[in-house]
Amino acid sequence: MQDQRPRCDPNEPMKKQALIPIALLALVALGVVIARMQPSADQNAVDYRQALMFVINDQMQPLSLMHGGQLPYDPALVRKHATDLATLASMIPEAFARDTRAARKLNTAALAYVWTDHSDFVKSAARLQQDAEALNGAAQDDNQAQIQSALGTLSAECARCHRQFRAN
Ligand code: HEC
Repeated sequence: MQDQRPRCDPNEPMKKQALIPIALLALVALGVVIARMQPSADQNAVDYRQALMFVINDQMQPLSLMHGGQLPYDPALVRKHATDLATLASMIPEAFARDTRAARKLNTAALAYVWTDHSDFVKSAARLQQDAEALNGAAQDDNQAQIQSALGTLSAECARCHRQFRAN
């Protein structure tokens, strides 16, 4: 009569047991490696510049909504965000000063042109600052037509720099 027990290697359970401590050891070793892993100066530079862009984006959002008519027009709010954007724009050159092209495994969308055409990049940041200052001036005069046009110029500069210096 045929054996009804599932066919398996009688040594298998022992092999599995031997694997458990090895796996645990590997896990502990991995933990130690991760704990020792300090973010590199390149990674810090990427984190910093992306954080700056994140804040710039946050300041831009209500302005874009006003530009599109989804948020009521409010000159005081425009002035606040325009002032903050001018300051933040002035920080872009410093945030991108570190050339991270040679670094591996960085999660960055910055293209090599940021450093090969650095003066163009800096000029774009300066234009963004000027655009934000012009917007502030228009809001100070409470000139809605001028505000609309200044908002268009400002957001066009974001797109312009991204087209030239950012992947996707
Ligand atoms: C002078 C060039 C320049 C200008 C001007 C600029 N950006 Fe950027 N931006 C970049 C580059 C380069 C990156 C990619 C950074 C990276 O991934 O290391 C980026 C990334 C971003 C990101 C993604 C951040 C992240 O978390 O990865 C956002 C959002 C953003 N920009 C929004 C804006 C907005 C909004 C404006 C306009 C108000 C603007 N940017 C103006 C160059 C610019």
